[in-house]
Amino acid sequence: MISQKTIAQIFETAKIEEVVGDFVNLKRRGVNMIGLCPFHDEKTPSFTVSPTKNICKCFGCGKGGSPVNFLMEVDNLTYPEALRVLAGKYGIEIEEDGNPDKSKEQRQHQESLYLINQFTKDFFIDQMNNTDIGKSVGLHYFKDRGFREEIIERFGLGYAPSDGKSLMHGLDKAGYEKTFYEKLGVVKNGRDFFRGRVMFPIHNLTGKCIGFGGRILKANKKAPKYVNSSEAEIYNKSKVLYGMYFAKNEIRKKDECILVEGYTDTISLHQAGIENVVASSGTSLTIEQIRLIKRFTPNIKILYDGDAAGVKAALRGLDLVLEQDLNVKVVLLPEGEDPDSYAQSIGTEAFVKYLDEKATDFILFKMKLLMEEAKDDPVKRSDLIKDIVNSISKIPDPIKRSVYIRECARQLDVGEKVLINAVNKNVVGNIQSRQRQQEINERRANRNAFDEAGFPIEDHSNDTSDDEFGPPDAHSDSKEFQTIGFQEKDIARILVNFGDREFNEDKTIAQFIFANIGEILDTFETEPYKAIVQEYLEAVKNKKSLSPQHFLNHQDQKIRDVALNFNTSPYEYSPGWLKRFNITTSQPVPDENFINDTTQALMRFKLEKVKELCEQNNDRIKAISMKDHPETVKRYLQVQMKLNGMRKEITDQLNTVVP
Ligand code: UTP
Ligand code: MN
Repeated sequence: MISQKTIAQIFETAKIEEVVGDFVNLKRRGVNMIGLCPFHDEKTPSFTVSPTKNICKCFGCGKGGSPVNFLMEVDNLTYPEALRVLAGKYGIEIEEDGNPDKSKEQRQHQESLYLINQFTKDFFIDQMNNTDIGKSVGLHYFKDRGFREEIIERFGLGYAPSDGKSLMHGLDKAGYEKTFYEKLGVVKNGRDFFRGRVMFPIHNLTGKCIGFGGRILKANKKAPKYVNSSEAEIYNKSKVLYGMYFAKNEIRKKDECILVEGYTDTISLHQAGIENVVASSGTSLTIEQIRLIKRFTPNIKILYDGDAAGVKAALRGLDLVLEQDLNVKVVLLPEGEDPDSYAQSIGTEAFVKYLDEKATDFILFKMKLLMEEAKDDPVKRSDLIKDIVNSISKIPDPIKRSVYIRECARQLDVGEKVLINAVNKNVVGNIQSRQRQQEINERRANRNAFDEAGFPIEDHSNDTSDDEFGPPDAHSDSKEFQTIGFQEKDIARILVNFGDREFNEDKTIAQFIFANIGEILDTFETEPYKAIVQEYLEAVKNKKSLSPQHFLNHQDQKIRDVALNFNTSPYEYSPGWLKRFNITTSQPVPDENFINDTTQALMRFKLEKVKELCEQNNDRIKAISMKDHPETVKRYLQVQMKLNGMRKEITDQLNTVVP
């Protein structure tokens, strides 16, 4: 682990305008700087950088954050990866924390796996360029296929000699451990695994070599055309898209990802100047790969070979893509062509034009294909309609769904109403099962919250042990939840934004908050507000305070996100309590007004809690019979009066304090 000291040093040193400046052309505008958003396509700049707050945010797409967050997003790095990049940029030496724990060992282990792959990649490149056989066989093969030097170099293509031992000897000589390189599968059973093949290194998102594909040179019925490194810790076929490292920036800029099947298709299109291309490496698309694409764009264009027998089967798997709310277009290449051959034969311009003209929406494409197959066979036609209805129901956006329904009804020559009904039935089914699960989860969370609540104001002192009435069942109305969630957000917002500021001479805002509602803070129900409050409470106990930067750079993505929102969007009051308590302001609370803001937030929070208790107590009264338990009822009634009094008091205060 990177030590806290180093992390703090990175936070202090990294300047948002310098970090963003590496990716975006920034111009000064007042106290801020502004540029074209790197996360979405735009013509007028809305990506704003605030050097004073040390954050950035796009007011078009909402992305941004601290320097760490920005790097994570723009380069798809993990938190520690982003920290390391920043440390590198600012020449900060990384100090590792504490005892050599497992994670450090693991990292070192992984590091050596990457090193072995890098060594192997360099070896294959060297063999191809600097040996006679490499040049005459390997390099010749690639050149013969029309690959130019610079693209061969860019993709790190190489050649594996056929003797079956020179890589292993090289690895041994360089001091790499046998168990490690055997694990990676570049050497197997004491022999080089790739022999007499041209080599395609496979990179992860940060450009590290995680594995290889090796292609046989001459068609051979007995040997497979391509073989791959073993799937191990660092290489997982279903999670990688070949070429993503080279394509990611262009995918983001074009806001579209072109998906092909093969290594050579990817390389060929990159060479043709079409760089937003990745390959699924011959397997059908997995959910992990889809999510990977979705990190860069919601738009996918899939190119299928014209003679691909599996197109139809592949299409079925694509419903997965619809569920992820991606826009999928499909292009079928002419018979006998794959993207590599076709792009090379007709040239870039014509190829791009072809893609533009032939790109068909996935559902419509599927429908056309199935229709050609079904012809007039009524059974097949009805299956086809069911199939299409299923696909459409997977689309989360109702507007998109209705557009598809209209188009499909027209093309299938079926009544629109029939399709609408069928789709709705599916959609309702989908939603219901999702909702049922959500309700169960909510109820569980909700019940726990009530169980744990030890409200200081509740009068339990006279509770008799024969009291068989547990907490009222909190199947709850969800509006109430939103309010509570909102109050919690309110407190979290103040802690994040102003917690470290002075409330008065001897207290910070955070200390003031904890002094006032400390006892009930463990009743927070909503994440990540709960986590924020707990972390802050811990800090206050240790006489520390936490700055907005702390939360903006937080390790937890959810916390970073809410911190960014707290710091950038004008604060809005909940319309719910505005109306209910007749509070008459809707002004955003200005930064300077944070003391007033804090006191009010606290009162609102208390009020919510008291109301909750009122209702809880009320339920108890209703559930119990006066005749059987007169004493208990009396006690509950007393509690109720006390609570009502508190409620009125707070409401009055709120009404007078609010300007
Ligand atoms: P293709 O057979 O379309 O190969 O398989 P290709 O990429 O067009 O290669 P060339 O043009 O014949 O050289 C598509 C992808 O499927 C995977 C590879 O990733 C390949 O790029 N594949 C194919 C394998 O993993 N193993 C195989 O035996 C065949
Ligand atoms: Mn091919």
